[in-house]
Amino acid sequence: MAKGRYGRLQVKKWSTLTLVWSMLLMLSVVILMLLAFGIVSLPIIDDDSPPQDLSSLRRMIIERGEGLGDRGEQWTEVLAWEPRAFIYHNFLSREECEYLISLAKPHMKKSTVVDSTTGKSKDSRVRTSSGMFLRRGQDKIIRDIEKRIADFSFIPAEHGEGVQVLHYEVGQKYEPHFDYFLDEFNTKNGGQRIATVLMYLSDVEEGGETLFPAATKNFSSVPWWNELSECAKEGLSVKPKMGDALLFWSMRPDATLDPLSLHVAL
Ligand SMILES: *[C@@H]1O[C@H](CO)[C@@H](O)[C@H](O)[C@H]1NC(C)=O
Repeated sequence: MAKGRYGRLQVKKWSTLTLVWSMLLMLSVVILMLLAFGIVSLPIIDDDSPPQDLSSLRRMIIERGEGLGDRGEQWTEVLAWEPRAFIYHNFLSREECEYLISLAKPHMKKSTVVDSTTGKSKDSRVRTSSGMFLRRGQDKIIRDIEKRIADFSFIPAEHGEGVQVLHYEVGQKYEPHFDYFLDEFNTKNGGQRIATVLMYLSDVEEGGETLFPAATKNFSSVPWWNELSECAKEGLSVKPKMGDALLFWSMRPDATLDPLSLHVAL
């Protein structure tokens, strides 16, 4: 009895399964036929570039990434290997630059420098700009930017400091300095700084360059040489452009300090 019921149940299950499978098979054949005759078509992303062009695919992915506003075309270039410095064009959109300025503007204070003996912040004539620190990951837009910095530098965002927004009036500067710490207080507490990403938030008529006076490269070979101010021609210089980012390393790959990372804010 029990055995019989079992058998009948199996037969019923089997026939239902066969029916479902054959219906699915017929449906697939119909869809394939419709596709073959061009009666229906799969959605294809409308793009000007040829479909096999992988570089355009990569650019498309970058452009559709996270962030506020349109960043336009992005590309990177090696500025120098001694010090290791790289430029990332259109790292930030105009909207992101304006957003950073709007967050910082109400809180700007005279910039300080780190005292190399005590490790404390102090006022200095060496650095005359004003600035403020954002909190790390303080909102979605800042987190997007920090993620981008992490991707550019290969250093996780959790290893970064909060973004510092700086403002230089005409005539203000930051004289030659290193970003690495020379005091025990900071190296023991937060650890050494290994790299810096500078993001330029506005275009300037003249000056405002970042100068690496100790770089070994033939600095007059940069394509923007003729656009540089006189003092920027004393070494390898980057001309500020809204949205561009400059990454440079204060430490070499073997974790020794790189004195060639000496730099000046003109
Ligand atoms: C540096 O580059 C400039 C421009 O490309 C060139 O005229 C000059 O000869 C170079 N100097 C050296 C020492 O290579």
